[in-house]
Amino acid sequence: MNSDIEKVLYNQKQLDERMNAVAAELNKKYKDEFPIVISVLTGAMIFTSDMVKRLNFKLYLDLIKVSSYQGTQSTGKIKINQDIKSDVKGRRVIVMEDIVDTGRTLKFLTELLKKRGAKSVDVVVMLDKPMTRTVDFQPNYYCYQVPDAFLVGYGLDYNGVYRNLPYIGILKKSVYSK
Ligand code: IMP
Ligand code: MG
Repeated sequence: MNSDIEKVLYNQKQLDERMNAVAAELNKKYKDEFPIVISVLTGAMIFTSDMVKRLNFKLYLDLIKVSSYQGTQSTGKIKINQDIKSDVKGRRVIVMEDIVDTGRTLKFLTELLKKRGAKSVDVVVMLDKPMTRTVDFQPNYYCYQVPDAFLVGYGLDYNGVYRNLPYIGILKKSVYSK
């Protein structure tokens, strides 16, 4: 599996350092709050698990599963495959996601949560790929900004594989151009 990786971008130690820093900011901001943390499945599972262990305020943990469909139009539609169980009305919400690429998924999700009455929505991502954005969306917190390359590991997959790598790496082009 490791031989499919072109280059390791961030190892566990580097991720730990940034997760500590982001968690410290969240701990300050949500000190006396009781937010709902929503993890975007499946990719954000590992990042969310690491992040929530660093948070010391009361929270609810919920899950949502979405997929994006790229039809004939370049806009792409987002579909909810599994919805959250909690009512976000009047609640502060923190969305955790693996990566923001075009921005469509998270723009859709934040708008949906606000439409459902969330009092506030913060988006925390492990990685931000700012160069490939096609819609106007910025995460509130990110661990690292990354170049336009196909990344795997730490939850990120290619065809469902590589999520369990304990680092973030660039996948060799030969793997997906076969
Ligand atoms: P969006 O384009 O910002 O809506 O991102 C949608 C989803 O694309 C993310 O949640 C990831 O699951 C996936 N994605 C984007 N870039 C990468 C990547 O480099 N590797 C693996 N998955 C990615
Ligand atoms: Mg995803």
